[in-house]
Amino acid sequence: MAKIFSGVQPTSIPTLGNYLGAMRNFVTLQDGNECIYCIVDEHAITVPQDPEEIQQNIHRLAALYLAIGIDPKRSILFIQSEVPCHAQLGWIMQCTSYMGELERMTQFKDKSSGKKAIPAGLLTYPPLMAADILLYNTELVPVGADQKQHLELTRDLAERFNNKYGQVFTIPEPYIPPVGARIMSLAEPTKKMSKSDKNRKATIFTLDSEKDIIKKIKGATTDDEASVRYDRENKPGISNLLDIFSLCSGRSVEELEAAYQGKGYGEFKTDVAEAVVGALKPIQERYQNLIESDELDQVLDEGAERAYAIAGKTLKKAEKALGIGRSNR
Ligand code: TYM
Repeated sequence: MAKIFSGVQPTSIPTLGNYLGAMRNFVTLQDGNECIYCIVDEHAITVPQDPEEIQQNIHRLAALYLAIGIDPKRSILFIQSEVPCHAQLGWIMQCTSYMGELERMTQFKDKSSGKKAIPAGLLTYPPLMAADILLYNTELVPVGADQKQHLELTRDLAERFNNKYGQVFTIPEPYIPPVGARIMSLAEPTKKMSKSDKNRKATIFTLDSEKDIIKKIKGATTDDEASVRYDRENKPGISNLLDIFSLCSGRSVEELEAAYQGKGYGEFKTDVAEAVVGALKPIQERYQNLIESDELDQVLDEGAERAYAIAGKTLKKAEKALGIGRSNR
């Protein structure tokens, strides 16, 4: 039994990349493990957010977590800002980090490039993420490939703290799936599929209608070789569709390559779209029932309480090791 922690930002409706790269693994990992899943709203405000929109997205993400199969009886689901230990340990982790290592984070470089005024929170985002993970004695963190560097930093910070102040934190391992860790943009398949892509054809959102999903997949960029073959380097579009198809249908990439030998891209795309619709439809149906129900508030209240019971202890341990506050309290 492993202790699992992961989080998703409530910055929009999660994408198919979020789902296939991370969230679907949140569900399967519930079997035999202790799982804690978070709506990381404090991470979301590292870039400006509209208050009404983020409020709505928090609510939607909570419903979606349950709709994909997170079971609140087995797992803890909560909102980051409702457990103040995150910001508190986040500060301690900032004080454990060096400017140089934070400035080297690819995601910081990407998100700050070209900006005149860079929010300090963009730089200190990874120490807050480290705090999220370390508060729960986490052993395994299911994430997509884009979070690997943040996980490495988390491990470095935990080791640095432990070496200086004594054994406080568990050193976590990333859990990055062999297929789906990097779902690519449908429009530019050499780029990651992203929530914030300006091109609306690039990204499938988990709540997209059947019509939109079909349209986006039919319009996906491919190549002119007309052969369904997995080759990430030379055929990034087809390879991405094969990954998506495989994950949504449960058929291996090799099986799909064999099945579509000699067939055109039109037929292939129709079937990819059908598989994606088939995977998302049941989630969307459950979501529609959940979004209107009172169950969400109950789950989140209970989740925050259960999360605090664990996080509060780790925070105290870290403060005591540092010698801050009164250690007899
Ligand atoms: P976020 O909200 O950007 O994404 C949520 C999860 O989805 C994965 N992901 C993808 N996987 C495959 N293909 C893609 N195109 C794709 N796009 C996103 C991400 O890797 C992530 O696992 N920093 C995190 C949130 C976070 C967190 C944490 C995660 C905050 N604290 C603690 C784990 C543990 C983020 O921005 O995820």
